[in-house]
Amino acid sequence: MFGFLKRKRKSLIGMDIGSNVVKVLRLDASGDRPVVTHFGMADLPPEAIVDGEIMDRELVIEAIREAADKAGVPAESVASAVSGRAVIVKKIVMDKMSEEDAREAIYWEAEQHVPFDIDDITLDFQILQPDIGAGQMELLLVAAKKEMIQNWAELIRDAGFHPAIIDVASFANQNAWEYAAGGGLHAAPVAETEPGPSPDDEEVEPFGETGEAADDADDAESPSEFVALLDVGGGVTNVHIVRDGVPYFTRDLPIGVAHFVEEFQKQLGLTYETAAAVARGHLEGVDSQLVGDIVRSVGSEIYQGLEPSLSYLKTSGEADGIDRIVLSGGGAHLPGLREYLADSYSVPSEIADPLAGLDYAPDLFGDDDPHALSPLLTVTVGLALREAVEA
Ligand SMILES: Nc1ncnc2c1ncn2[C@@H]1O[C@H](COP(=O)(O)OP(=O)(O)OP(=O)(O)O)[C@@H](O)[C@H]1O
Ligand SMILES: [Mg+2]
Repeated sequence: MFGFLKRKRKSLIGMDIGSNVVKVLRLDASGDRPVVTHFGMADLPPEAIVDGEIMDRELVIEAIREAADKAGVPAESVASAVSGRAVIVKKIVMDKMSEEDAREAIYWEAEQHVPFDIDDITLDFQILQPDIGAGQMELLLVAAKKEMIQNWAELIRDAGFHPAIIDVASFANQNAWEYAAGGGLHAAPVAETEPGPSPDDEEVEPFGETGEAADDADDAESPSEFVALLDVGGGVTNVHIVRDGVPYFTRDLPIGVAHFVEEFQKQLGLTYETAAAVARGHLEGVDSQLVGDIVRSVGSEIYQGLEPSLSYLKTSGEADGIDRIVLSGGGAHLPGLREYLADSYSVPSEIADPLAGLDYAPDLFGDDDPHALSPLLTVTVGLALREAVEA
């Protein structure tokens, strides 16, 4: 285990560079309960980041600076995350071997599973099942384009911060949920650099030996639920299915808050502002029945998009289905969406509340109601909580 994993950072800035909103949140974890010391967010025009790829660097840097200025955060270490098609998370089967040997062999194996040149990617993995019979073991493979990780780190540097951790957004979401659910902390970032001043040519090192989330899954007594974490973001919904700290699936569906807002505008004849307010749960002066119909109709695309993942879980004999839905992201408060999804699957559901496990001054979020904001902050909080990584 690398030495730097053993050190517990006292504080870390989580920086979620979403396609619609950049969020910056600093956590101080030196006490018993983490304290949010700084928070700020800034809107990003949807064309600046598309499918996780940066289209307009200047716009993104501007939004990072705006969010950081609002937060008033010091220029410290940042944990951020990549997402989208350039990040691949996949379960694979390979010959049984030690973790050390697997670290070498994984590059040969990955070649069959990743549609990019193997020299161009950063790889990490986690042994899920060390023995599945016939001399085979099961791994979770995480691959991201090196160039993308480096670009992301460079962007954060250009905005004036030190990129200490580049994670995967869906894993950060999982981290926040596990923390909130009291399940402890799990570390599986894709890449980590040493904190501190960075030379210009610094490379983000692949995060070495992280493959212990399953071992860390502390309370073996707790029932093994398949939890579907659904992050309904500005443009996409990330579906991340986990059990006992182990991700089973991660997939982006091309439906986000924007699609609901567009339908509210079209079908209810609303201005963008009013439609966006409806998406946040404000139903004053609108036909709530119709809003419900639209939410169910657009939401059915999320439901249908989930089906292939769930069928796979069923046919592979891993699960009968999901046991719980946790909604997060800017779409979590879409009127009736949580109820619609819960009814469709006949499972309990909840709206993620990552702020619940943290302390903060009452005025930290300004005019925003922390309760309304909380589901937007799952990835941000999950990133800021990475400071507590301990070997
Ligand atoms: N309190 C809020 N502040 C800002 N936006 C909100 C709020 N509540 C809901 N929204 C809506 O949520 C959207 C942003 O959601 P979120 O922050 O989850 O997206 P993102 O992370 O930027 O996008 P993605 O995850 O798709 O890259 C906004 O476009 C807005 O319509
Ligand atoms: Mg997001």
